[in-house]
Amino acid sequence: MKSEIKPTVINERDSAESSNPSQEFPQPRRLARRSFLRNLGMGAALLAPGAALLGSASKALAANGRQRLNAGDVAILQLLAAAELIEADLWQQYKELGGVDSPESGYRAGLEILDGDQPQYISDNTDDELSHAAFLNAYLRSKGERQVDLRQFANLPPSQVSFVPQTGRLTNLKQLTVDTSWWTRYRSTTNPDFGATFPNAVPSLNIGLHTAIPRNDDELGDPNNPSDHVKAIAFTAGFHFGYIEQGGTSLYATLAQKVTSLEVLRILLSIGGSEIMHFQTWQDKAGNATSLTDVDPINNSTVTFIDLTTGQPETLQANLIMPEPCEFISRNLPPCAIIRPSGPGQLDARGAINSFIADGLFRGQPPQFFQLLNSLASAADAAEREVGD
Ligand SMILES: [Fe+2]
Ligand SMILES: [Fe+2]
Repeated sequence: MKSEIKPTVINERDSAESSNPSQEFPQPRRLARRSFLRNLGMGAALLAPGAALLGSASKALAANGRQRLNAGDVAILQLLAAAELIEADLWQQYKELGGVDSPESGYRAGLEILDGDQPQYISDNTDDELSHAAFLNAYLRSKGERQVDLRQFANLPPSQVSFVPQTGRLTNLKQLTVDTSWWTRYRSTTNPDFGATFPNAVPSLNIGLHTAIPRNDDELGDPNNPSDHVKAIAFTAGFHFGYIEQGGTSLYATLAQKVTSLEVLRILLSIGGSEIMHFQTWQDKAGNATSLTDVDPINNSTVTFIDLTTGQPETLQANLIMPEPCEFISRNLPPCAIIRPSGPGQLDARGAINSFIADGLFRGQPPQFFQLLNSLASAADAAEREVGD
């Protein structure tokens, strides 16, 4: 547990900077939520200076004068910082095309079929992820630990839609294979921690490649008469939102069981709770997709959505959005309404990263990117709760 991971993209701990606590924890500002987060941005967090220069005599103390974290807590926070940067990148792409400030389009109209407030929710989910990434990196820095910086891997091409900034991205939303079994998992009385598996709610999304964003201006569609093609792209996004956030929900619950510091536990429970709120929102909306079948000529794939609001078994019924009580801890105990999975070997760090890889999020990234994520995930999963210190 004492060995340190030193991925090359982590900022150097020893870059000189004032140890003034006020610089480690910026004063809260009374700015409007959106303007604050717009100014914050993902890049801004990563441009923040490194941690205070620590002398050998002060190695037990963080830059803010508090006790240093153990290696396991640092590994968990670094993995989560990477996951949040990934979330922020993909949500930023959704926000550009379907957020509250996006131009009217068939895509946006398709999202609004799921819920009229969908653009607002997309913008706010994006802001939340930016804040998670920035906070986790700032917290690592405040403890004298290395921050996570993935900017060197932000080279994937964005949507070619004319109003989308043509800057490199970390994630690929144009060739996804979306696992929608989370939908039936949360409507089931069984639990993946006991080995249960679940069918997909939208089986065709889990086969072949699908885009969740319009790839060019032609695909943006007519805001007043969205085609089935652009609606299919929007509905794919709607189920992808839930897929992403159920992953975060289980990841935080799983890793929280490995942390040592009570303050780090507080961070994981509190940010993890935010992921749960995201997930619950999206699983309420995705079920409003309307029946259609669409063939995507670019990915050469077909997707079929059915009306989940009427005539469905309980494992598919759209309005059953509260977690069905299921087996938990022991089959000798009564069923319990919980988030799941939360046990080892499911959506732990490696499980979550492998799931994102299978989703196609990183299609086009070089081997070094996967090596970095795997090393961060392995270190986080190797963390062990240390008690009695
Ligand atoms: Fe997040
Ligand atoms: Fe999230």
